[in-house]
Amino acid sequence: MMRTLKLCDGRSMPQIGFGTAAIGEFQQDNEFVKDTVLKAIEMGYRHIDTAALYGNERSVGQAIAESGIPRKEFFVTTKVWDTQQGHENTLQAMEESLNRLNMDYVDLYLVHWPYPEKTQATWQAMEQLHREGRARSLGLSNFRKSDIQQLMGFAEIKPVYNQLELHPYLTQKALVEYCESKGMVVSCWSPLGSGSWSGVDNSEKPISDPVITKLAEKYGVSAGQIILAWDLQQGRIVIPKAESEKHMKGNLNYGFTLTDEELTAIDNLNKNHRFGDDPDTATESNLSRPVPN
Ligand SMILES: NC(=O)c1ccc[n+]([C@@H]2O[C@H](COP(=O)([O-])OP(=O)(O)OC[C@H]3O[C@@H](n4cnc5c(N)ncnc54)[C@H](OP(=O)(O)O)[C@@H]3O)[C@@H](O)[C@H]2O)c1
Repeated sequence: MMRTLKLCDGRSMPQIGFGTAAIGEFQQDNEFVKDTVLKAIEMGYRHIDTAALYGNERSVGQAIAESGIPRKEFFVTTKVWDTQQGHENTLQAMEESLNRLNMDYVDLYLVHWPYPEKTQATWQAMEQLHREGRARSLGLSNFRKSDIQQLMGFAEIKPVYNQLELHPYLTQKALVEYCESKGMVVSCWSPLGSGSWSGVDNSEKPISDPVITKLAEKYGVSAGQIILAWDLQQGRIVIPKAESEKHMKGNLNYGFTLTDEELTAIDNLNKNHRFGDDPDTATESNLSRPVPN
């Protein structure tokens, strides 16, 4: 049975989603991407995480349509990119995303990165999209405590979710606690330590850490499943990306439970190490990366 988490706006979402950044190459949008997402759907994924910047919303939408499964059984997340922030731009960005996805609404619309000068105008446009039924829930991504405090000063509709880089080498404990205290669920991006887009060798990722690989051996599962179980058992959303069928399938299935000591041993691997961008410095480079159409 699909695990779900209740959101503070009363809706619920599947706790395990399918990440779609850089299936094949970054911004690839073709049959391979569609077939990969379709394979994931056939295995049971109903929560799909994409973004305008990933340049693959068309393939994601095609896979969902071709699956023959009713749209309402899916939970689709997409995100507004920095170059599209601001009131009118955000309305336009959503229009473009919905056209590419070939959908009337998304389940969750996120601000992809904080851009404090634009946050109020962007969020108010998102509130309008929510009232119009085009974004069922609203959320954040990469928001720091200060960004959340800023948003809470004017938000009429509260964010339900914050998607953060989070894995055993970057546990972001204080920020996770802060988000949860504000009623948001935390979703983990690059939960396994990032996909091929980062150029990071597997040997440097937490999936190769001896604490993780020993637990994988103990439970007879993959290193990835150990890390994802650590998130799931603590009430976090995970959105692993996998092209291999073995990973795709394993990431959905958990016939074991980590002990409290094991959860703590994984917490203790934290070294505040980011594989991706830092919200303190990302805006400038994000603004030089346009959304492909
Ligand atoms: N909000 C943001 O700013 C942001 C930023 C980055 C990513 N994201 C989202 O987060 C999603 C996931 O992050 P990500 O794609 O960077 O990487 P990830 O999910 O941490 O890792 C993907 C890599 O791990 C491998 N893998 C999958 N399952 C495994 C398992 N059970 N054991 C061992 N290895 C496994 C995959 O291999 P194969 O593909 O070969 O199976 C792939 O190389 C993205 O796809 C995207 O949706 C959001």
